Amino acid sequence: AAAEKGGFRSFMDKEIHDQPHAVADTLLGRTDVRGRLVLDEVRISEDVLRAVDKIVVVACGTAAYAGHVAKYAIEHWCRVPVEVELAHEFRYRDPVVNARTLVVAISQSGETMDTLMAVRHAREQGATALAIVNTHGSTIPRESDAVLYTHAGPEIAVASTKAFLAQITATYLLGLYLAQLRGNMFADEVETILAELRAMPDKIQTVLDRSARVQEIARWMADTPSVLFLGRHVGYPVALEGALKLKELAYIHAEGFAAGELKHGPIALVEPGQPVFVVVPSPRGRHSLHAKVVSNIQEIRARGARTIVIAEDGDEAVVPFADEVFRVPQAPTLLAPLLSVVPLQVFACELATAKGLDVDQPRNLAKSVTVE
Ligand code: G6P
Repeated sequence: AAAEKGGFRSFMDKEIHDQPHAVADTLLGRTDVRGRLVLDEVRISEDVLRAVDKIVVVACGTAAYAGHVAKYAIEHWCRVPVEVELAHEFRYRDPVVNARTLVVAISQSGETMDTLMAVRHAREQGATALAIVNTHGSTIPRESDAVLYTHAGPEIAVASTKAFLAQITATYLLGLYLAQLRGNMFADEVETILAELRAMPDKIQTVLDRSARVQEIARWMADTPSVLFLGRHVGYPVALEGALKLKELAYIHAEGFAAGELKHGPIALVEPGQPVFVVVPSPRGRHSLHAKVVSNIQEIRARGARTIVIAEDGDEAVVPFADEVFRVPQAPTLLAPLLSVVPLQVFACELATAKGLDVDQPRNLAKSVTVE
C-alpha cells in the first residue's frame, strides 16, 4: 500500500496532489490539432441537444457541488436554465422533465444508487441523460444515453477530491460544446476559454506548491470545534465543498454559506475567535462581487471572527481584514473554483491527519453508496 500511495502519507494526500493531472487528462484528446473542441463521445443527436430547454444536474455529495459550480458556467455560456438537484430529492418530488430536458448525472463511481434512480426516472419521462462519470464500465453510464468520462484516474480515498476538479472540467467542456452547437458562442470564443482551461493545471500546481502555510494553520487549529465557510457566485459551492471536506475528514462541525446570506442569519453565529474561511472573487471580474465580499470580511472581523481568506495574487484589498491569506494565481472568474477549493482540501486533510484520523476511510462513510 505504501508504494501505491507514491510516497504520500495517504491516498487522499496523493489524490489532492494528482489534481493538475486530473484536470489536464480530462481536457486531453478533447480538442483537435487546431485547438477546436471535439466531443464525439457525446453521442446525442445535435437536433436533440439544440432543442433542450432545461438542463437538470442530478448528483450526490461532492459531485453535486461540481454541478452547482457548472450551473454558473453553463447558464452564462448557453443561456439555458440549469437546475442542480440532489438525486434523492429529485426522484421523489415529481419533477417536471420531458423530451426537451437534458439530465446530467455526475458521479465519480457511476454506482451511486440515488443518482442511478434519478436517471431512470428522468428517462422514463422522456428526458435524455448524459453521464459524467469517472469509472469505466459502471452502471450509470450504461443506463444513460451518453457518457462524458472524467479522466481523474482511480480515486481511492472515500472523500472525493480530484474527481471534483475533473467533474468541473468535464461539465465546462459540455457547456462550451453546447454553447457552440446552439450558436451562443463563436468557435474562437470557445477556443479562448479552452486555452484558459489548459492553463489551469499549472496554476493548480502553484496552489499545491504553496500548501505549507495552509498545513501549518490546519495543525494550529486541530482543536477548533467549528468552522464557517463563506463564498459567493462560484465561490459559494466552493465554500459548501470546503465545509463538507472538514465534516467528512475531521469530524468538525462546519457550515458553508452564501456570503450574501450572512446578514440573514449566519452572522449570528460569529463570536470572538470563530474561524471563518472566505472565498474571495477576483477583483478583476467584470461584474465584480469582490467589494461586497470584502465588506463581508470586514463585518465578521468587526465581530471578532478569525478570518482566513482565499484570495487571488495581487488582491491587496483583503489584507487589512484578513488574519490569514491563502493566495491562488489569477484566473477567469468561472475557472477560479479549480484553484480556490484546493487550500480547503489541504486544510481538511492536514487537520484530520493532525488529529490522528484516517483520512482515507473516515468513520461511517462509504466510497460509493449503492443503496437508496
Ligand atoms: C459518497 C462519497 C462522496 C461522494 C458521494 C457521491 O458519499 O463518500 O465522496 O461525493 O458518495 O459519489 P459518486 O460516486 O456518485 O460521485
